[in-house]
Amino acid sequence: ADVFTYDPGFTSTAACKSAITYIDGDKGELLYRGYPIEQLAKDSHFLEVCYLLLFGELPDKAQMEDFEGRVTRHTMVHEQMNNFFRGFRRDSHPMATMVGVVGAMSAFYHDSLDINDPWQREVAAIRMIAKLPTIAAMAYKYSIGQPFVFPKNSLDYSSNFLHMCFAVPAEDYAVDPILSKAMDRIMMLHADHEQNASTSTVRLAGSSGANPFACIAAGIACLWGPAHGGANQACLEMLREIGTVDRIPEFIARAKDKDDPFRLMGFGHRVYKNFDPRATVMKESADEVLELMGIHNNPTLQVAKELERIALEDDYFISKKLYPNVDFYSGIILDAMGFPTAMFTPIFALSRTVGWIAQWREMIADEEQKIGRPRQLYVGESYRDYKQVNDR
Ligand code: CMC
Repeated sequence: ADVFTYDPGFTSTAACKSAITYIDGDKGELLYRGYPIEQLAKDSHFLEVCYLLLFGELPDKAQMEDFEGRVTRHTMVHEQMNNFFRGFRRDSHPMATMVGVVGAMSAFYHDSLDINDPWQREVAAIRMIAKLPTIAAMAYKYSIGQPFVFPKNSLDYSSNFLHMCFAVPAEDYAVDPILSKAMDRIMMLHADHEQNASTSTVRLAGSSGANPFACIAAGIACLWGPAHGGANQACLEMLREIGTVDRIPEFIARAKDKDDPFRLMGFGHRVYKNFDPRATVMKESADEVLELMGIHNNPTLQVAKELERIALEDDYFISKKLYPNVDFYSGIILDAMGFPTAMFTPIFALSRTVGWIAQWREMIADEEQKIGRPRQLYVGESYRDYKQVNDR
């Protein structure tokens, strides 16, 4: 009989070769195409990071302008898609709407479905990077019963997203540059993270030859879970539930209790075992945004800081190497910006889209890739004969 390595959760299986993102979990290091996340978060911007992830090098000025122009040309969604949105219940979670609408892009953009044509693959990539903010903002507007706001292509990528979320027709809305910078940083920090669950899902879906829109919809579905991208929503809701610092010990005790399924959301990571470098940048950004917005004594931030302090001194968290991850602080920033918690994971999704599509493109171009087809250790019944119902 065949012998297979049993590796639940793929903790020690490399399913592909990749030249996109490097993580050193012990050192707390994250590199996109070799560049450290801290430098990119400080000096780059999201669309430049998109170019880097997709094409492997930082763009020169002309390449950047050209790329920006191409993305900007594709920010609108087909008018018929508006009707598709309207089919959802008005109180749908924006992630539910996004899974459906992004999957439905396969039915709208027939000229970028042929995965064997490199040009079509590139157009699909540009389309998704361009349209995901529009779709996320539309899902949000729909969920709160407001009319959709068209993309404003004179704005940069993150400002345009904020505009589509917060502008109201017939009223002036100017995007605050502080918020736009913070949003851009959130997008950069989430842009890629090698073979996490949703990226592996995109690759697995793509390995069968499925079209890129279907693959990204699969990634969005996987991201939604609270152990993955859904953690940012779950984390802020947890911080609110804790409410005041005096209740922290109660929640720490619950997290340690083996009989209680409760986990401290925003803590722990499969790969990072000392700290999550994204969390460090996110924490600084949270401080900066709240300071610049004049928000002092934010109770959620106070609970977060105290929870972090107590957990980091606790033997349970030390021995299990549990540190705050990227989702621990991102929610505080998004909350301060005025986003409801239901929008946190859609923002993660639109930011990760470039990572998913870069990994999908890398996979399609890799001649060693085969259809993803894990094996199993069968633990069920051995051979037995069927019995008629009266004989059972
Ligand atoms: N709170 C309390 N205990 C925890 C936590 C937590 N957040 N995370 C892990 N543990 C414990 C867990 O109970 C287990 O204990 P034991 O060995 O006694 O059974 C041990 O630590 C190892 O946990 P694991 O679940 O085997 O580790 P994993 O690598 O499979 O899971 C994780 C990683 C991120 C899913 C997990 O730490 C978790 O559920 N964290 C909370 C959710 C979260 O914040 N997710 C966001 C991850 S970062 C962004 C992203 O990827 O989207």
